[in-house]
Amino acid sequence: MVIGACGQVGTELVLELRKKFGAEKVIATDIRQPENEELKYSGDFFELDVLNKDALYQLVKSQNIDTVYNMAALLSATAEKNPEFGWKLNMEGLFNVLDLAREKHIAKTFWPSSIAVFGPTTPKSETPQDCVMDPATVYGISKLAGERWCEYYHKRWNVDVRSIRYPGLISYKTAPGGGTTDYAVEIFHKAILEGKYISFLKENTMLPMLYMPDAIKATIEITHCEAELVKVRSSYNLAGFSFTPAQLGAEIAKEMPAFTLDYAPDFRQQIAESWPGSIDDSAARKDWNWHNDYSLNDMVKDMLLNLKKAYSIA
Ligand code: SER
Repeated sequence: MVIGACGQVGTELVLELRKKFGAEKVIATDIRQPENEELKYSGDFFELDVLNKDALYQLVKSQNIDTVYNMAALLSATAEKNPEFGWKLNMEGLFNVLDLAREKHIAKTFWPSSIAVFGPTTPKSETPQDCVMDPATVYGISKLAGERWCEYYHKRWNVDVRSIRYPGLISYKTAPGGGTTDYAVEIFHKAILEGKYISFLKENTMLPMLYMPDAIKATIEITHCEAELVKVRSSYNLAGFSFTPAQLGAEIAKEMPAFTLDYAPDFRQQIAESWPGSIDDSAARKDWNWHNDYSLNDMVKDMLLNLKKAYSIA
């Protein structure tokens, strides 16, 4: 079962899981009805609020669910606008699912953490798996607290919870929902539709990123590998490549020479500056054999190709 199935990751996760395991094996749920046509017609969908513990329990029981991907969250920029609800959704949603696992109603669960768990005094370059973590956003605080709880549930009650610290995720099927790394998706839409983009992050703001097919691959792999391989039960560092808005703009301009990029930083600049520029994900590579398939250049080409198709531009 995927909770938050209409979101940026949830949409593609459901589609890939259905491809891999069969449509009838995967239940999609979200607080709102799907808009994505592919998702809508690909299999069963149930409206579900992850904060409604009873409804969650009923659905898990009636559908005989053994694995839950818990993807419902408020991201960094949105949670800064509504800190109380950001905390509530991110934490209570996690507890509701962890408790189902603790009470043995489900066998295992995946829950995403984020590079937002790091903060201003974290080492910025090749950020290690274990280091100073002083998140400066509500989102980051909720993810770091969540990681601690995941490890606690695992140690104390043997809950099989698995987690990745996603970097910025770039995709074309579903728009991201209110993150600081969203510029790296918006830029492609604007490049195709208007030939120009105004970035809300400064030109030299380096952030770690990952292309969605790699993120989905990692998510499914960590969730389905042998439990003994998952040695980190808080959350694994994970990354594909790092770039600045200027570097991404230059890559896009290689494919679209007329593309122009300007900068008008807003409140998200401060959030981005508190995060790492690159990530050391060697623990994930060693423990469960993670590797990314897409480079920056592969990602840019694939994004432009698919978005042009989506907008019916040859
Ligand atoms: N992409 C997320 C955000 O920007 C980070 O996990 O909030």
